[in-house]
Amino acid sequence: MHKKLFIPGPTEVREEVLKAQSQWMIGHRSKEFGELYHRCVSKTAEALKTKNHVMWFTSSGTGTMEGAIRNCVATDGKVLHTVNGAFSDRWFKISKSCGRQAARVDAEWGKAIKPELIDAELAKGGYTAVTITQNETSTGVRQPIEDIGRMMKEKYPDVLVLVDAVSALMGDWFEIDELGLDVVVASSQKAVALPPGLAVAVVSQRALDKCRTVPDRGYYFDYDAMLKRYDKDHQTPTTPAISLLWALDAELDHILKETMPGRYRRHLEMAEFTRAWAKQHFALFPEPGYESVTLTTVANTRDVSVKDLNAGLAGKGMQISNGYGDLKEKTFRIAHMGDLALDDMKQVTSAIVELLGL
Ligand SMILES: Cc1ncc(COP(=O)(O)O)c(C=O)c1O
Repeated sequence: MHKKLFIPGPTEVREEVLKAQSQWMIGHRSKEFGELYHRCVSKTAEALKTKNHVMWFTSSGTGTMEGAIRNCVATDGKVLHTVNGAFSDRWFKISKSCGRQAARVDAEWGKAIKPELIDAELAKGGYTAVTITQNETSTGVRQPIEDIGRMMKEKYPDVLVLVDAVSALMGDWFEIDELGLDVVVASSQKAVALPPGLAVAVVSQRALDKCRTVPDRGYYFDYDAMLKRYDKDHQTPTTPAISLLWALDAELDHILKETMPGRYRRHLEMAEFTRAWAKQHFALFPEPGYESVTLTTVANTRDVSVKDLNAGLAGKGMQISNGYGDLKEKTFRIAHMGDLALDDMKQVTSAIVELLGL
C-alpha cells in the first residue's frame, strides 16, 4: 500500500514526476543530454532568483556538504561550524574527516543559532568559512539566515558563508544573492519533491575563485571541473542520474508555474496550521520564533508512544517521523514539504487526533 509520507525526506513525489523518470535512456555525451541538464540548471537559477552557479550532482545532500568543505576550505584554512543538531554536527565531522581545521560553536538542541554567537567566535580571527544549517531537520529549528547573512556581509565580508538548506530549498525562501551566501546545498528528496539521488550546490563566483586556489579539493565535487564541462557542452564530468534529471526537469516546470513566492506561501500556510494544531494538543519543541517552515517538531508532552502512533497511521496509509536520535519518543516530526497541501496536513492531524482519542 502507498503510504503518504509526512517524513522530512523522502517526501511525496507526484505521479507526473514518477512517469517523467521512466523515459528511454539517452547517452550522457549526447546533445540531448546537454539540453536536458542546461534546462535543469537554468530553471533552478530562475526559481531561486540567483545569478550564482547552479550545479546538480548525482549524490545525496551529504556529498554536497562534503564538496563545499573540500572546495572552499584549504588544509591551511579554518572553518567554523555552527552546531545545534544532528546535521550541523555531521558537517563538523565531515570537515574533520577531510583533514580540515574545524572549530565549532554550539547552541542547545531546539535553540537557534543567533548572529551574535557567530560574531563572538569569528571576531577571534583566522577563519576562511562558516557553516550554517539553515533548517536543522533533527530539531525543526530554522536559523535566522537573513540576520546571519546581513551580519556576515557587514562584519566579515571575507569569510565564505556555506549553507545547508537540504531540507528547505524550494519550500522555504531566502534571497541567496542578496544575503551573500556563497554555497547553498540541498537534496532532491526534500522540498524539491523528487526521489533521492540528486543534490544541488549553488555556488558564488568568489567561492568558485576560492576553489581554484585549493589544490586538494578532491575530484568528484570539484566546482571548477563541473563548470568547465558545463561551459563546454552543458554536460557533467561523470555519468549523471539521467532519469532523475528528467524528473527534475518536469518538477521545475511545476515549481516555476507555482512560482517560488507561491510555493513559500503554501509551505508557510501548512506550517502555521500544523504548529497551531501541535500547540492545541501538545507543544512545539523549537525555540519560539524559530520554527521550521518545512517541518514541525512536536514536543511529546502527552508521552504517547510515537512508534505505536506511526503503526496506527500506517494502517491509514500515512507516515510521520519519530524524533531524531536522543529526541526519539520525546518529540515527533511532521513534515510539510514539497508538493503536499493544506488538506494533507488536515488529513494527517485528524488521523492522529482519532488514533490518540484527543
Ligand atoms: C539538514 C540536513 N542536512 C543534511 C542531510 C543529509 O542529506 P542526505 O540524506 O540527502 O545526504 C539531511 C537529511 O535529512 C538534512 O535534513
